[in-house]
Amino acid sequence: MHIGVLGATGPAGRGLAARLAAVGHEVVAGSRDPSRAEAVVGDLRDRWGDRVAGLTAGSNADAADAGVVVVATTWEGAVDTVAGFAPALAGKVVIAMANGLEKVGREFHPVLPGGRSLSEGMQAAAPEARVVAAFQHVPAAAFAALDQPIESDVVVCGDDDAARDVVLGLVAGIPVLRAFDGGSLVNAIGIEAFAATLLTCNLRHTGKGTLRLLGLEGRTS
Ligand SMILES: NC(=O)c1ccc[n+]([C@@H]2O[C@H](COP(=O)([O-])OP(=O)(O)OC[C@H]3O[C@@H](n4cnc5c(N)ncnc54)[C@H](OP(=O)(O)O)[C@@H]3O)[C@@H](O)[C@H]2O)c1
Repeated sequence: MHIGVLGATGPAGRGLAARLAAVGHEVVAGSRDPSRAEAVVGDLRDRWGDRVAGLTAGSNADAADAGVVVVATTWEGAVDTVAGFAPALAGKVVIAMANGLEKVGREFHPVLPGGRSLSEGMQAAAPEARVVAAFQHVPAAAFAALDQPIESDVVVCGDDDAARDVVLGLVAGIPVLRAFDGGSLVNAIGIEAFAATLLTCNLRHTGKGTLRLLGLEGRTS
């Protein structure tokens, strides 16, 4: 696939961009400032060599031109970024990985602007895009460690059945992630909000736990 990543200069976006390139996709790492994307792609090439041969740098507009687009900006900037690229995103699978968070003492709380998920906010901002929520529970460090499989499950939610299927396949193509069909985009509120609970568990139990569903096989290819 030809995949663009908006905001690929942060830890999550650069890690996912590298991981997708490593499994054979053509990936454009985008930034509001293409020189920042160049620097990130240069670092990834130095670290991983031919494993990220399919990775190139560009602007966010270049990334939005790809066939499948991942929104990896800060959660605060995600909806406005999608709104700004709405014409380019029309008809495309748009992967929303944001989860709104605030730290309150020794815990994280979910932030759901207007009482809805950011994924739904992105869908409203680009009504002709096919927004699918995924990857909220995968730590950025796990994406970036290309020499290790990612031990996590990914729940995928979206209203467009074909778009959801594309993302389930994309997730399942990353060793050894398992992809689960979480239904419509309205259910993204659960996966976004659970990220705050998961991070609170990690804080209070001092670890890097992620999501695992027991009793289900999920999709792995
Ligand atoms: N970190 C994780 O472990 C993790 C895991 C799963 C999901 N997520 C989600 O993945 C997304 C990225 O996480 P991150 O930790 O990599 O984020 P980040 O480092 O805070 O930000 C990512 C990039 O967003 C761009 N950006 C900053 N402000 C912006 C704005 N107002 N509008 C548009 N772009 C802006 C910046 O890129 P440029 O300045 O180069 O444009 C920045 O490098 C977040 O939505 C987060 O909720 C994170």
